[in-house]
Amino acid sequence: MGSPLTGRGSAGGKLILCGEHAVVYGHPAIALGVDRGTRVTMREVDGALRVVDADGHALDDPRLREAVATLIPEGWEVRVSSELPIGRGMGSSAALAVALVRAEADARGLTLTAEGVHERAFAVERKFHGNPSGIDHAVAARGGVVRYRRTLEGPEITPLPVPDWALVVLDSGEEGNTAALVAGVGARRPGIDPLLDRIGEVVTEAEKHLHDPVAVGRLLLENHALLVAIGVSTPRLNDLVAAAVQCGATGAKLAGAGGGGVVIALTADPAPVLAALRARGLHGFVCRPSPARAEA
Ligand code: MEV
Repeated sequence: MGSPLTGRGSAGGKLILCGEHAVVYGHPAIALGVDRGTRVTMREVDGALRVVDADGHALDDPRLREAVATLIPEGWEVRVSSELPIGRGMGSSAALAVALVRAEADARGLTLTAEGVHERAFAVERKFHGNPSGIDHAVAARGGVVRYRRTLEGPEITPLPVPDWALVVLDSGEEGNTAALVAGVGARRPGIDPLLDRIGEVVTEAEKHLHDPVAVGRLLLENHALLVAIGVSTPRLNDLVAAAVQCGATGAKLAGAGGGGVVIALTADPAPVLAALRARGLHGFVCRPSPARAEA
């Protein structure tokens, strides 16, 4: 037998600037790829599928194993290393799915189009999220800043110019369950449909003023209030949004499914905002939108 096949792939995480939840029902959302992500390396082995961390220790989270097994058959060792916190709205499961698709294609010597990556990763993403809009894995696959809309014909992905403001990310320390939160919003429809419609309008306005941190900041605050009204925020997330604004952010909101996860705070100049937050015992990190990636 020849030498064992090996493959590697990577993908970035994402933050939703505005429009989460409403995007599941056909409204637009704006999301950005971030400069942190997930790497997968895989090699052929004798025996069962093995999923290990960067140091070779077995990863036994059943959801992770199930996601890997959706794409990778027995007879492979899959090594996963990620800089993305799990369950915090930063697209960790989508980044894993896209990195797996790329590693598998690499091992088999295949060249995938962006659409091919997107399609295969979506099958994995469904295992985690039940009724995902597709926004997470679309951004994991291509990076950059995009407007995303789910249509009956498929996803509509429009690249947007990368703005030069920054986001300070504050971790609530709580984990949100995306599938349960999306299902909960679905169960509150059609009563909350006017709120979802308004989220869609906020996104359209934000796109028009994307380079203006003051205008976008104001819209983020409105988006957060709407997310509170549809029942996906928590007292901790609301406190972090208030603290970010008091510390100089032009606006802030929860980002992702909610129920925990992260708050994003918009600012043209992150250093003083970070320092003011730190003085209150809150520790954030800065994420800048990443440029779009050219697919092989
Ligand atoms: C999760 O990152 C974003 C949601 O809108 C769900 C989805 O679009 O699949 C809450």
